[in-house]
Amino acid sequence: MSDRIQEHFGLSRRPFDKEVPPETLWMAGGRQQSLDRLVGAVEHREHALVTGEAGAGKTCVLRALRERLSPAHFRVVYAAHVTLGRRDFYRQLCYAMGVEPKATAAAMFEALQREITTSNSDHRQHAVIVLDEAHLMPDTTLSHLHVLANFQWDSRSLLSLVLVGLPELHARLRLGVHRSLLTRIGTWVTLEASSPELTVGYVRQRMASAGARQEVFTADGLSLLHELSGGVLRSVDVLAGSALRLAALEDKRLVDRDVVRRGAAGTPLY
Ligand SMILES: Nc1ncnc2c1ncn2[C@@H]1O[C@H](COP(=O)(O)OP(=O)(O)O)[C@@H](O)[C@H]1O
Ligand SMILES: [Mg+2]
Repeated sequence: MSDRIQEHFGLSRRPFDKEVPPETLWMAGGRQQSLDRLVGAVEHREHALVTGEAGAGKTCVLRALRERLSPAHFRVVYAAHVTLGRRDFYRQLCYAMGVEPKATAAAMFEALQREITTSNSDHRQHAVIVLDEAHLMPDTTLSHLHVLANFQWDSRSLLSLVLVGLPELHARLRLGVHRSLLTRIGTWVTLEASSPELTVGYVRQRMASAGARQEVFTADGLSLLHELSGGVLRSVDVLAGSALRLAALEDKRLVDRDVVRRGAAGTPLY
């Protein structure tokens, strides 16, 4: 079916796929500034927080961050399974950093500290630990992060934590026991839903990077796409993909309001 979209519209790839090649990432809507601020935070060996609604584009910004950090100077570790208790969380980090896991959380914590110190002293690599979906972290794990966050040697910070999650992550960090972690975070980036103009720009850029040479979505099609998606990128993807499929099926060259509406009816977003 998806090849049908490509064929019908003469595209070189599926325009609203989850896999976005880093060089075709859409960087408008404050994303470039957000990315620059994250790069700056990590270059200054600070910690950062990234929040945004589900589908706002947080994980994509993290991918862009990884691309920007030279492996010669940064050792970026991405942890996506953060729902774990403290011991399994540190075991995951051990595997990610190529450290032999130990029996206890304390032993693994020490082993990780040694590894991070060696990275710095022997290889001049600053460690960056990215914790995606961090709002899902259990309190016991989250409350231990400030110990990692405070890890330094000769008062030089050896590690940057990048915490990423839904807006409730920030609300949670403001509370009682997690405040000490929050006070160690110097940069907070929020990813907002798009305005109508930005949604239009996003759709155009994704169509163009898939090889579209002319407009496929009409102005009223785009405005309904924005309305139904609320400017949330993942929802735009789902709705636009569905509309394109329907248009291909009905042999239509243009995706107008009617096609968007009927395409949306087959998705949970309508
Ligand atoms: N900067 C971007 N450029 C192109 N597509 C993007 C961008 N940000 C998000 N997307 C699209 O939106 C989808 C959801 O983004 P994602 O980063 O997974 O959101 P989140 O992590 O906030 O839930 C992605 O699969 C991708 O298709
Ligand atoms: Mg994500």
